[in-house]
Amino acid sequence: MTLIMLLNSARSPKYDVRVGSTAECPPTQATDPQSGASKTCLVDRFGRFHDYLRISITDRCNFRCTYCMPEKGVKWKPRDEILTFEEIVQLVTFFAKKGVRKLRITGGEPTIRHGYIDLIRELRTNPAIEELALTTNGSRLSKDAPFLKEAGLSSINVSLDTLRADRFEAITRRSELELVLKGIEFSQAHDIPTKVNVVMMPGVNDDEIIDFVHFASSKCITVRFIEFMPFLNNNWSSCSVLSSSKIREIIGKEFQLQALDGYPSDVAREYSIPGSAGRIAFVSSVTESFCGGCSRLRLTADGELKSCLFLPPAVSLRDILRYNGTDDELEQAVATCLAGKWAGHPPMRDWAQRDHLTMVQIGG
Ligand code: GTP
Ligand code: 5AD
Ligand code: SF4
Repeated sequence: MTLIMLLNSARSPKYDVRVGSTAECPPTQATDPQSGASKTCLVDRFGRFHDYLRISITDRCNFRCTYCMPEKGVKWKPRDEILTFEEIVQLVTFFAKKGVRKLRITGGEPTIRHGYIDLIRELRTNPAIEELALTTNGSRLSKDAPFLKEAGLSSINVSLDTLRADRFEAITRRSELELVLKGIEFSQAHDIPTKVNVVMMPGVNDDEIIDFVHFASSKCITVRFIEFMPFLNNNWSSCSVLSSSKIREIIGKEFQLQALDGYPSDVAREYSIPGSAGRIAFVSSVTESFCGGCSRLRLTADGELKSCLFLPPAVSLRDILRYNGTDDELEQAVATCLAGKWAGHPPMRDWAQRDHLTMVQIGG
């Protein structure tokens, strides 16, 4: 198959890319602030520079979180369709040349892929990569934290939606709360900056908001409350979203939240609480779009490139590598993918899922 055939087979977005408003979310990063590169394939038609690549290294997970995937019947990708570590390194080398500066390793659950720490060590040797982060369910951290530190990992985000053992089991369909808590402790003990991601859901864990504020304080950690987003098979409805403003209101009755400065490309808005060593943050994808500053590209475990969390994969970079494609061909493919990126996702209030992938297949 030629490159032209590959690019022609690139799937165009199913949705209207004009949805969303640049007026609401002005583009913020037309150039790479360091190299000054404005002509790179990583700038989209709204002037956003994509210097953050999220790489899913497996679509498998050892948990079965209710908001992420069904308990049974998930079809994993065959091994030979998944990018090899060599292919991931090759793609990172390409993206780093074009201006990517931040990588996040995601899954599924990335820590269950054999050899993932070696991959992190290898990616760390690329001098252009300034930040190499991991998002994990935390179940392997008590074992892996020292090796992750030694491999040069910059930071870890751990998903933890409840501090109660019975509820943990109901949400994750696994009984490993203690292991995850220990993992967070070990990660901090090895001086790896660590944050906790809490997907807040009404009637599920919203009675733990204040407990998590105390947790942030006692563990000197950042707790990020995330609005529940719609994906394939995750039983989302607008009623299952607890807005950040509501959570801020609940916290505000007991604590004073002081907004901290951030970057327009930040996913989360962070707050400090006077007298507390912890921080609170909000990822408000549903009610307060942050698409205007978006700097993120996503590589799925099987090597497809997504320009947005809510747009289908647009092009297979794996196929280009496997047909011995050149950097120019990769560049064209990335440009094709970014050409389909919208200014921002449409309002989520009324939508059914917008992707044909489950969250576990995307990696967040
Ligand atoms: P930091 O680098 O620490 O800011 O992490 P991050 O927020 O980029 O990554 P993480 O994997 O911890 O994701 C936290 C939440 O933000 C998850 O629910 C993700 O799905 C969500 N998220 C991350 N990137 C995007 C994005 O581009 N758009 C939307 N809507 N949500 C995102
Ligand atoms: N909505 C919001 N966040 C989600 N995550 C997983 N599924 C959802 C969803 N439907 C979070 C996980 C993890 C991050 C990668 O995405 O909790 O922290
Ligand atoms: Fe970027 Fe899409 Fe997320 Fe908006 S929803 S911030 S465009 S990835």
